[in-house]
Amino acid sequence: MKYFEWGKENQKVSTLCLGTMLMGSVMSKEESFLALDDFVSRGGNFIDTANNYAWWTGTGQNTGEESETLLGEWFKSRGSRDKIILVSKVGAGIDPKTVLRNPDGTVDWNRYDPWKNYQGLGKDTIPKAVDSSLKRLKTDYLDICLAHIDCRSIPLEETLAAFDLLARQGKIRHVGASNMQTWRLEEARQISRQNGWAPYEVIQNEYSYLRPRQNADFGNFNHTGPDLMDYLKARPEVLNMAYSPLLKGILLNNANRESVYLWKQFDSNDTRQRLETLSRIARETGSNENRIALAWMMARTEPRIVPVLGFSRLEQYMDNIQSMEVELTSGQIKELDSAGE
Ligand SMILES: NC(=O)c1ccc[n+]([C@@H]2O[C@H](COP(=O)([O-])OP(=O)(O)OC[C@H]3O[C@@H](n4cnc5c(N)ncnc54)[C@H](OP(=O)(O)O)[C@@H]3O)[C@@H](O)[C@H]2O)c1
Repeated sequence: MKYFEWGKENQKVSTLCLGTMLMGSVMSKEESFLALDDFVSRGGNFIDTANNYAWWTGTGQNTGEESETLLGEWFKSRGSRDKIILVSKVGAGIDPKTVLRNPDGTVDWNRYDPWKNYQGLGKDTIPKAVDSSLKRLKTDYLDICLAHIDCRSIPLEETLAAFDLLARQGKIRHVGASNMQTWRLEEARQISRQNGWAPYEVIQNEYSYLRPRQNADFGNFNHTGPDLMDYLKARPEVLNMAYSPLLKGILLNNANRESVYLWKQFDSNDTRQRLETLSRIARETGSNENRIALAWMMARTEPRIVPVLGFSRLEQYMDNIQSMEVELTSGQIKELDSAGE
């Protein structure tokens, strides 16, 4: 495992973060513990969760508390809490009773809009949400607490003051944002600076090897673009995390990729050319597209971007984690960088 130093405390952070979104819901406790143990045995110390993972899975039995609850059990059983840099997120929790469902219990996405029902980032909501997360996680602090969504119905001042109070109480060590545009991130940081509050020091958006097509629409989610990358070059103190780095499996060279819902945001000649280069380098190195894309992202340092590894089965984790052993040459990195239109 490779590491970089981050934050006031010069913490040693692994260049790969383990995403636990589907643990305890889609993935069994046994499979999840095996992945967590393996990650730590390889030296990984950076883990991502949230207070809403993963309410949308299953047929009505999952509430969004599953991932944090499972992690709490794992910390307790392994005594590993203080060895991990733990990220959780608040703001996108929902009341399961509001979810509109199909007769078979799955979410009826045609009628249910979670953005209308998220708990949001008000001054009363945040401390309660963090306390509930801490209880589930069986810990008394989060290393990093992210605002999961950009909640524009609440003034940034209110949200930032609430996070600052929790930071002063020692319940959260760093604050950050997810699904936030660059201008909002800078605005939030300025407000915190002016008030002497804990500033957003982490940003977590979607990012991968592929570049979205022109006019791609991610709705209220946010894909990291050149503007944020440029901003972060000048703000290396802000930790940059990439969620969905494998774009739900569409990097892999298989016939089904075009049926994945994300595909339409990437359907372009640029994408086809980048996928061709990715596949060629995967063949040359005896690896696969997912591992090469992760290795490419981890090799980058200006600005650094930490992939949050996603998987829905233990075998996928075991496959993807081999990206740690991939050493791309500078020529291969250049080819990957310059592929496309
Ligand atoms: N801040 C946010 O808003 C946000 C949003 C999303 C995720 N996250 C974080 O980021 C983490 C990763 O996100 P993600 O799950 O969306 O990641 P992802 O990079 O899109 O990958 C996950 C999906 O890709 C497919 N996949 C992965 N490895 C594979 C393999 N070896 N072979 C075949 N298919 C493979 C699987 O699809 P199938 O399940 O279809 O097989 C898997 O569910 C999450 O755990 C969470 O911690 C944060």
